[in-house]
Amino acid sequence: MWTDGLAGWYARGGRHHLPWRHTRDPWAILVSEVMLQQTQVSRVLPRWRPFIARWPDPGSLAVTPLIDLLRAWQGLGYPRRARDLHRTASLISATGWPRDERTLRALPGVGEYTARALLVLAFAAPAPLPRDVNIARVTARAALGVEPEETRPSGLDAALASARPPRMSRRCFVFALFDAGALHCRARPLCAGCPLARGCRSRERLASGARQPSRLRQARYAGSARQLRGAVLAALLGPDPPRDLGALELAVADVAAARPAGAVAASVDALLAEGLLQRAPAGVATRIHK
Ligand code: ADE
Repeated sequence: MWTDGLAGWYARGGRHHLPWRHTRDPWAILVSEVMLQQTQVSRVLPRWRPFIARWPDPGSLAVTPLIDLLRAWQGLGYPRRARDLHRTASLISATGWPRDERTLRALPGVGEYTARALLVLAFAAPAPLPRDVNIARVTARAALGVEPEETRPSGLDAALASARPPRMSRRCFVFALFDAGALHCRARPLCAGCPLARGCRSRERLASGARQPSRLRQARYAGSARQLRGAVLAALLGPDPPRDLGALELAVADVAAARPAGAVAASVDALLAEGLLQRAPAGVATRIHK
């Protein structure tokens, strides 16, 4: 089986220090998964424990004004995730945790992957295994001999469903696959030392460099709309927030320079539309949504 070397390797070399692997609390796991959706493990590590200490359950976050959450989220990026987490916290504290994939996916910010991660990692439910981009890449290459975009999700699910080494729990199997993907089976693979190398159906192809996968680059941040929105939000979350558009434009002048006139106003409009800002009575959007 393609996963034959995985259990021993994970026991010896897995990332057992990741603190969210030591809980089965669905809230703590949800927070980690939301943070890890778009932020690297190294940047999530110092942020997860303080978050859980401050908001140990959905109810505690639900009664917190969004502005406080957005402040705590600063530096993690993609603040829409914080808004969604806030809405999800309210829903869960009102109605409890859904226990099936379809109902979990109705929660804001919870897609197929996160729903399955909750089911498998927190609820020990017999759901299909969560399959993020890393697990999809590992499985496509090692089990099927292709790159993930060359196969169908159902094929990946089927390959995963029959590959758990008998002495690993489903949770540990998932953790081990994350680690194989992060440490060896990266976009540019490091096959030496990979626990899956022996049974990998892509070994020769990858070793020959015949098809070096093109690296999916994140869109450039400098000069992006995301960068300006980040600066606008940071200015408005700061201790002395600008009171009108002119003051806001001054506060973000560094980032806004060389952008068309109206870029800051457009950024404010986008943040308003997303529910990250609320228009103040005086007219200019500076108040943050409660
Ligand atoms: N452990 C649990 N969830 C994880 C994730 N999304 N990425 C890496 N390690 C994890």
